[in-house]
Amino acid sequence: MPDTPAPVNGLPSTGPPGNARPSGGPSAVDLPHTVVVALGDCADTKAGDHALLAELVARLTGVDAASVTLTQRCPRCGAGDHGPLRVSIAGSTSVAPWVSLARAGGRLALAVTAAGPVGIDLESLADLARAPITDVLLSPAETDALSALSPHVAQAAVAALWTTKEAILKVAGVGLRVDPRDLTVSLDGPATAPGPNATMARRRLVDWPQSPFPPTALHLLPVSSPPGTAATVAIVGACRPELYVMPARVG
Ligand SMILES: CC(C)(COP(=O)(O)OP(=O)(O)OC[C@H]1O[C@@H](n2cnc3c(N)ncnc32)[C@H](O)[C@@H]1OP(=O)(O)O)[C@@H](O)C(=O)NCCC(=O)NCCS
Repeated sequence: MPDTPAPVNGLPSTGPPGNARPSGGPSAVDLPHTVVVALGDCADTKAGDHALLAELVARLTGVDAASVTLTQRCPRCGAGDHGPLRVSIAGSTSVAPWVSLARAGGRLALAVTAAGPVGIDLESLADLARAPITDVLLSPAETDALSALSPHVAQAAVAALWTTKEAILKVAGVGLRVDPRDLTVSLDGPATAPGPNATMARRRLVDWPQSPFPPTALHLLPVSSPPGTAATVAIVGACRPELYVMPARVG
C-alpha cells in the first residue's frame, strides 16, 4: 500500500514566517501550489539522504516509495553521481515533482514541489561566520547596503544573501560555477540578528544579467530553519507557491 500524504497535514506548522499550512484539504498537500520543505538530521550516507527524499516524494504524491527513483546528471561533465537530482515515478503518467536537497552542519533540508523547478540551500551560521565569504558573495550594491547595518544584522543579511543566491544557482542548475557576485539580491522588510525571535527579510533578485528565467517567474521564500542555520528555497513557476515546513522523518 502506498504511504499516504497525511503526515504533512497532521504535523504542526513551526510558526511564521516561512511556514504555512498547505491550502489543500486535510489529506493532501496541493503540490502544484505548495513547496514542501522537510528539515531534519542527515542520514549516515548520501544514499540515505536520497532515500529520505524518495520517501518524502512518495508520501506527498501518494505512491509507493519503491516506485520513486532519483537520478543525477552533472550538466557540466555528464557524470551520474553528482549534479541536480531528478525524480521519476514508475507507472505514473503525471509530471513528477521537482526536488532539491541541501546539507549543513549535520542538518538536512529537502524541497519537493510540483509548482516548478526548485532549489534549496541550508547553511550553518557558525560556518558562515568563520568563513571570509563577503568578498566572494556580495555584489557592489549589496556591499553598500550591508555597510549601513549593525554587525549582528549584517551577519543575518549575509546568511540570507548566501542561501538565497545558492538556492537561485541551484534552481538554475549551475551551482557555484556562476560567480555569486554576478547576482544582486535585495532584502526587503524586517531583518534582525539570528535568534529565537528573528524575523526574516523578503528576498528579491534585482539583477542577474545571465539569468535563465524572467525575474517575475522566480519566487524566493525564506525558510524558518533550525536554530543556528539559515535556509532559502527558490522556485521557478507561474505563481508564487505556499511554503509548508515539516520534519524530514515522520515517526
Ligand atoms: C550546487 C552546489 C553549490 C552545492 O554545493 P554544497 O553547498 O556543497 O552542497 P549542498 O548541501 O548545498 O547541496 C548538495 C546538493 O546540491 C545538488 N546539486 C549539485 N549540483 C547541482 C547543480 N548544478 N544544480 C542544482 N543542484 C545541484 C545535489 O542534489 C547535491 O546533493 P548530493 O550531495 O546528494 O548529490 C555545488 O555542488 C556546485 O556548485 N555544483 C556545481 C559545480 C559543478 O558544476 N561542478 C562540475 C563538476 S564536473
